[in-house]
Amino acid sequence: MAIIVQVVQGLQSLAGHLTNPANLTQILSTLAIGIAVILILTQIAQRVNIDKNAPPEVPYWIPYLGSAIQFSVNPLKFYAENREKYGDVFTYTMVGRKFTVCLGTEGNNFVFNAKLADVSAEESYKPLTTPVFGKGVVYDCPNHMLMEQKKFVKWGMSNDAFRAYVPEIEEETRNYFQRWNNKVGGRGDLFTAMGELIINTASRTLMGPEIRALMDESVAQVYHDLDDGFQPINMFFEWLPLPSYFRRDKAHLKMRNIFKKVIEERRANNVTDKTDMLQSLMNQTYKDGTPFTDVDACHLMIALLMAGQHTSSTTATWALLFLAENPDLIKDLLEEQKSVLGSVDAPLNFDAMKNMTLLDNVIRETLRLRPPIIMILRKVIRPITFPGTDYVIPKGNYIAASPIATQVDERFYKNAKAFEPSRWENIVEEETGESVDYGFGKIAGGGARNPNLPFGAGRHRCIGETFAYVQLKTVISTFVRMYDLSLTERGMPGSDFTKMFVQPVLPVEINYKPRN
Ligand code: HEM
Repeated sequence: MAIIVQVVQGLQSLAGHLTNPANLTQILSTLAIGIAVILILTQIAQRVNIDKNAPPEVPYWIPYLGSAIQFSVNPLKFYAENREKYGDVFTYTMVGRKFTVCLGTEGNNFVFNAKLADVSAEESYKPLTTPVFGKGVVYDCPNHMLMEQKKFVKWGMSNDAFRAYVPEIEEETRNYFQRWNNKVGGRGDLFTAMGELIINTASRTLMGPEIRALMDESVAQVYHDLDDGFQPINMFFEWLPLPSYFRRDKAHLKMRNIFKKVIEERRANNVTDKTDMLQSLMNQTYKDGTPFTDVDACHLMIALLMAGQHTSSTTATWALLFLAENPDLIKDLLEEQKSVLGSVDAPLNFDAMKNMTLLDNVIRETLRLRPPIIMILRKVIRPITFPGTDYVIPKGNYIAASPIATQVDERFYKNAKAFEPSRWENIVEEETGESVDYGFGKIAGGGARNPNLPFGAGRHRCIGETFAYVQLKTVISTFVRMYDLSLTERGMPGSDFTKMFVQPVLPVEINYKPRN
């Protein structure tokens, strides 16, 4: 009791002290002097701690935060402005960490093909991914195990599986858009629709019918909580006492248990006829004999859910926005469907869709201009020299590739900022260089010098590309069969760079009209 009285008296005396104008002026001037000293010391520290061999550094005023604010407002502008001053390779500070961005095709190649002994993807992504995916998979295991996990996933993405998926995705899309006003049309929230549809189609195909059945109820909310824990802040702080972190941790356990229950039921009922990813992951063993457990399978399923969701849903949204802006292309897409399938009423199928090259080019061009992932990171674990320079990037820095820089560069693409799917006609994207197998199938080693790399390159290259194309092609084809679309008076939205995956600034609405 006595302590409480003392605390209250202390607070009262502090309040009296602060409300006295003479004291307040003194406090404010002390604060101002303190801030000025910190700013000056920050400047001095940047000039004194110069490592002569390290790449040039972007100066900053606010200690610890560094260039975080300028970067997060518009990373592309930040890169372009500093590239003019410092060249293709430079370092900036953000939230107490140093990032060395390596731009251009050489920069891409340097990051994507860096040696395991020099850099680590796990060290860069683990704080973000392990609490969401769970232990033992992706970046929470040695790289050779991730390579084998990618092989397990590729086995679950066979052409036969894709043949089964296309009618399922078509049906999901049709059912979903029946809810829009299919009598007179209207204005639709495209971003929300694509988010819901992509998760419905991915769960119906990759995740399995049991998960799809739960999608409208429990799983959707669990997914939202997991997704809230998959934001840029989580990359910097693995754990903070914030509600989103508590929800994320609970959601991880719930999601794991949902998958685990499905696996147990399938085992109990001897279910073996499913074509989905879950079935494939239930029966894997590492090549040294280590079992890939059911819990591992659950964790890898969560990883796939997260890896494919925003990447595909934002791409679908941008692609439809570009089509709304270019109505002639919609007509051409319908013509292409007629010529490939005989009619726009014929069911879509995987083999025929391989011949829909305009549709392929619409997606390729969308990903060139609006790739959802604009920064790829590796942590330097042994000092490395950037080829052709004297720059030695110190241990502890992160190296960053930003393939979008070459994707919108006039040196590689004429009229580079314009949406022109026809630029891809007759271009077979050459994956030059010696083929390498990192453990999940052969990929072209030199492919990282290609200026268009929305799916990355090297050992961490995406394994979901073919699935993403199948999903996007089916969703877009079905959508343009059902509705004609146009932009609203708002026009094309800008990009929101504050999210983990770059997305259009919300809200994203389009005008739609049912086709007869
Ligand atoms: C890796 C992009 C869809 C699963 C990557 C990487 C990129 C990427 C850039 C390389 C990351 C790095 O090097 O650090 C995309 C885009 C997609 C897409 C643009 C859709 C438009 C998918 C889908 C799945 C998937 C649908 C699975 C169903 C993965 C996996 C990795 C990966 C497992 C490997 C991570 C590693 O080895 O470190 N993706 N992705 N992605 N993606 Fe995708």
